[in-house]
Amino acid sequence: MALRKIVVEGDEVLRKRSREVSQVDDRIRMILDDMLETMRDYDGVGIAAPQVGILKRIFIVEAEEGDVLEAVNPEILSMEGLVAGEEGCLSVPGYFGTVERPEKVRLRAQDRNGEFFEIEAEGLKAVAICHEYDHLEGVLFTDKASGIREAGEE
Ligand code: NI
Repeated sequence: MALRKIVVEGDEVLRKRSREVSQVDDRIRMILDDMLETMRDYDGVGIAAPQVGILKRIFIVEAEEGDVLEAVNPEILSMEGLVAGEEGCLSVPGYFGTVERPEKVRLRAQDRNGEFFEIEAEGLKAVAICHEYDHLEGVLFTDKASGIREAGEE
């Protein structure tokens, strides 16, 4: 595994739509390993491939320590409810804002072996799934947030 450099806002790669993964192979598994290590190194709860400069439809969410969700070619099948919460992003360091997200989502994706699975998530995990999914569409939380402020401001 290797740490990857986090791409920060201003880099065009964060604004592009990521491409489907045609085959989940050793290269994809290596990217997943590196993404997990990088996300944990930055104390993040989620990371998407474009954040490490790779325009592929892959993200990882670890809303609770040890509960690692690896999603390749994810699709959000349904969303339920709406809740406003505080968000930040490894690619927008030092900034926070309030974003409205669904309370619950149903996700379909492929795992690191290419097998399809579906899960339901709620709370922070659902929020993180939506946030990371947005990265695959070139969307940042700052596009949707209200009250964006720098860390440390009252
Ligand atoms: Ni982010």
